[in-house]
Amino acid sequence: MTRLSLAISAMALSMTTTAVYAESCAEVDVESTFDLDEAQVVALYDCLKDKMAAGYAKEGDAVGSNYRNWTVTSTRPAVAGPHGERLLQTFANDIAAEQYLKFAEEGVQMPVGSVLAKESVSFSKKKKTARPGPLFIMTKLDAGGAPETDDWLYGGLQPNGKPMKFKQAFCHDCHAAWEDQDSLAYPLEEVRISN
Ligand code: HEC
Repeated sequence: MTRLSLAISAMALSMTTTAVYAESCAEVDVESTFDLDEAQVVALYDCLKDKMAAGYAKEGDAVGSNYRNWTVTSTRPAVAGPHGERLLQTFANDIAAEQYLKFAEEGVQMPVGSVLAKESVSFSKKKKTARPGPLFIMTKLDAGGAPETDDWLYGGLQPNGKPMKFKQAFCHDCHAAWEDQDSLAYPLEEVRISN
């Protein structure tokens, strides 16, 4: 959680520096996404959002093609740290939205069929350019459907719409830390949209 407080202080610090924009809308003159101020984050997202959604939908994946019609859970993308220096924005499907938007901290049990899809924007330090990153997906299975991951199925799409390959434990070993929140970590507090 120290990365989290770091992220917050970095954001506060960057408010005092001048935003420098390069020609292309996806170029930003910063060393890290932690240095982006709110206006820069919004501008980058506006620049990339259509390309991003088109990419995730490219192979016809049901989540990749539909998640933008779901409930958005934050006012804008934000950098949390554990998913790399990526800007993150999570969408909740109709089954998940009501419970997820409570951001409850105890005794959370997400309904079966809940899906959370988290889009990401990656940043290249070298090129000082942002581009779409993976779409991270969590799906709540029937009780007993995946006992080792609290019945969550972890999935992901690359920016070109092709599925990502990884072990379930890679994701769950970290998400399991939020045991009382049904393995959900939630967006940074300052950007949450609650119901
Ligand atoms: C090192 C810890 C860590 C690992 C590994 C990790 N996550 Fe996350 N994940 C987080 C944190 C922290 C958040 C909340 C941050 C945010 O979204 O702003 C999050 C949020 C999410 C969300 C949004 C739902 C929620 O928890 O609020 C999804 C979906 C997700 N992760 C999927 C994945 C998938 C799929 C993998 C494996 C490929 C994975 N995560 C690996 C830490 C991790």
